[in-house]
Amino acid sequence: MKVNGISHRTIWLKPGDDSVVQVIDQTKLPHAFEVVNLTCVAGVCRAIRDMTVRGAGLIGATAGFGMYLAALHAPDSRFDEALHEAVTALKATRPTAANLAWAVDQMLAAIGVDGSQAKRRLLALHAAQAIADEDVAHCQRIGKHGLTIIKNLAALQPTRTINILTHCNAGWLAFADYGSATAPIYAAHDAGINLHVWVDETRPRNQGASLTAWELGQHGVPHTLIADNAGGHLMQHGLVDMVITGADRVTRCGDVANKIGTYLKALAARDNGVPFYVALPSSTFDFTLGDGVAGIPIEERGADEVRWVSGKNAQGLVESVQICPDATNARNWGFDVTPARLVTKLICERGVCDATETGIAALFAQDR
Ligand code: MRU
Repeated sequence: MKVNGISHRTIWLKPGDDSVVQVIDQTKLPHAFEVVNLTCVAGVCRAIRDMTVRGAGLIGATAGFGMYLAALHAPDSRFDEALHEAVTALKATRPTAANLAWAVDQMLAAIGVDGSQAKRRLLALHAAQAIADEDVAHCQRIGKHGLTIIKNLAALQPTRTINILTHCNAGWLAFADYGSATAPIYAAHDAGINLHVWVDETRPRNQGASLTAWELGQHGVPHTLIADNAGGHLMQHGLVDMVITGADRVTRCGDVANKIGTYLKALAARDNGVPFYVALPSSTFDFTLGDGVAGIPIEERGADEVRWVSGKNAQGLVESVQICPDATNARNWGFDVTPARLVTKLICERGVCDATETGIAALFAQDR
């Protein structure tokens, strides 16, 4: 995607230096665009944990490059031991996004157990790049499938603006490029469809306000920021034609873990007859789980993310302020689970399917 007219991915190797991985520091957006160098697996773990990088697809791609850096620096004498330490460290960073463990396992398989360390380091480099490239290709295909859905909706009401509500950031910043929930939006906007996006601010970390609003703005997509609690009201008044969210983990039966608050949007959408779509690449499915509410691990982060907010003050300086009494306790669950029954369709790079065990299995039938 373009930032101030220049094409960027969210992760890349430093030109001329394959030992440095570069990412956009997402904790600084939208007020500053800063690039951070990652040079070792410990740095990669830190970047994932403190959310310098975030979003299911990008967490996976970053973990892939983390495995590459682990291979690059692993001493020949304990190469496999060092790789397995990296696997454990990376998988422990954030628990909910399925793409993290998926990418680490892909890397282990690609690096293999045979051949010289030099050859296996090269395999690691190619595999990490392949994960990022595949992420981009999958998001583009999600965009194409989602575009058909938006086109069909627009054809029913040709003179009206199509209003799409999204929650959190499943945009290009959450992947290597394009995004999952935003890929159909970008494709529809580029195809000339008259659309507008309601952007949930997405407390407590405000990824909607700081990231989704920023990237839609960079692409010229009309959008309006709303408080998290506004969605139901807008739906009751016919101001939302469809909801599209991303996903961090989806079970084989179609239950969807996504940013906290997604479930409430899905309930409001069902009550108001608004279609609720979830966009995801194959790497977000977790076929080991059936019941998402019982089985998906939900990250609980520090209470201060709820107690404090940060933003730009009237002087243009970024600062953090406490929004509750000094003694107030807080809890901070990062994700919730939307049961499959509330999901209209899943939009995957493989196609569009029902959020059911049969619908999902049919998408993967060719793999069996
Ligand atoms: O905590 P984050 O920012 O890593 O959460 C991920 C998200 O932004 C959302 O849950 C998103 O919709 C899915 S990520 C493709």
